[in-house]
Amino acid sequence: MHHPINLFEYEHLAKEHLSQMALDYYSSGAWDEVTLRDNRAAFERVKLHPRMLVDVSDRYLNTSILGQSLKLPLLIAPMAFQCLAHPDGEVATALAAASAGVGMVLSTLATKTMEEVALPNSLQWFQLYIHKDRGLTRALVERANAVGYKAICLTVDAPVLGRRERDQRNQFTLPPGLHAANLATLNIPHAQGESGLFTYFAQQLNPAITWRDLEWLQSISPLPLVIKGILRGDDAVRAVEYGAKAIVVSNHGGRQLDGAIASLDALAAIVAAVDGRVEVLMDGGIRRGTDILKAIALGAKAVLIGRPVLWGLAVNGKAGVSHIISLLQHELDVAMALTGCPSLEDIDSSLVQLDLKS
Ligand code: FNR
Repeated sequence: MHHPINLFEYEHLAKEHLSQMALDYYSSGAWDEVTLRDNRAAFERVKLHPRMLVDVSDRYLNTSILGQSLKLPLLIAPMAFQCLAHPDGEVATALAAASAGVGMVLSTLATKTMEEVALPNSLQWFQLYIHKDRGLTRALVERANAVGYKAICLTVDAPVLGRRERDQRNQFTLPPGLHAANLATLNIPHAQGESGLFTYFAQQLNPAITWRDLEWLQSISPLPLVIKGILRGDDAVRAVEYGAKAIVVSNHGGRQLDGAIASLDALAAIVAAVDGRVEVLMDGGIRRGTDILKAIALGAKAVLIGRPVLWGLAVNGKAGVSHIISLLQHELDVAMALTGCPSLEDIDSSLVQLDLKS
């Protein structure tokens, strides 16, 4: 295949670079994958109302999140086991993100340690799963703080792991030599007729977590708390009341509750409920610069991308991730020019919901 010129072509090409087990783990969604597909379809449903005859000769794609500047309104979503795609795994992803001036969220289930991945001058957050073992959980948070991660991103949509049937069929587990590097003593089990990750979640993660546990988490960590996986306005308001500094509207890339609302469809109501008190980010289905523009028009401060980063990594390591980011950057830049938006602040809701009376 020729050199890929968009994220879909990377996805296509990545299939040649991944084992069947890794490809299935990366690409699948829960059960019938209705939410996985709908995350994309939601972007296709939203139509733009571009504004003409605006001077767009200079365009500004920079922004800030939790007070830290970014060259693009983009972060890399937390994704487990990136060394399945490339031996450099999360280290390559972090270097590509930092050199492009975008953010990165490192998964609890990374295949490199958070110390190896840390680049204290860039926007890096640590994504946390609360384990039954509170001591282990506390140690993860303390290490993240010690090596310079700027926030704890608590994922709240996974009290149990969603049912990804391809992983179940493959009896997903990590190949020899790879392990969940931040959890030294624990490992992803081999399970008969079952995804090893499903078994890991059932054995190690705490399904009893409630809002009250956010108080505990904040008592052991000076870092700002970001809540990832919110799909309702009332939950968003509670997250704010319990001290969250940012919210990520997400359905985990369609990997948890199949049938859940598409992230983009959930966004506007959450932005309205939060009413400017915290920054709202979103992920799920971002594949084009116009998708970023649509999410911002509906109130997101920035977006996260998931799977495309894995495709970039699989095809060409750090350079592949860098290319994925620059493709999105160029597409967003062109989309802004064509909608009459010299800066991100010009991307308002009228671009997606034109009220003809005004
Ligand atoms: C994820 N996601 C995820 N989220 C999280 O909070 N912790 C994690 O460890 C993981 N792991 C993970 C692995 C893989 C292979 C994928 C594809 C996703 C979810 C991720 O952060 C994000 O919400 C979605 O991937 C966004 O959707 P797109 O961009 O993949 O459509």
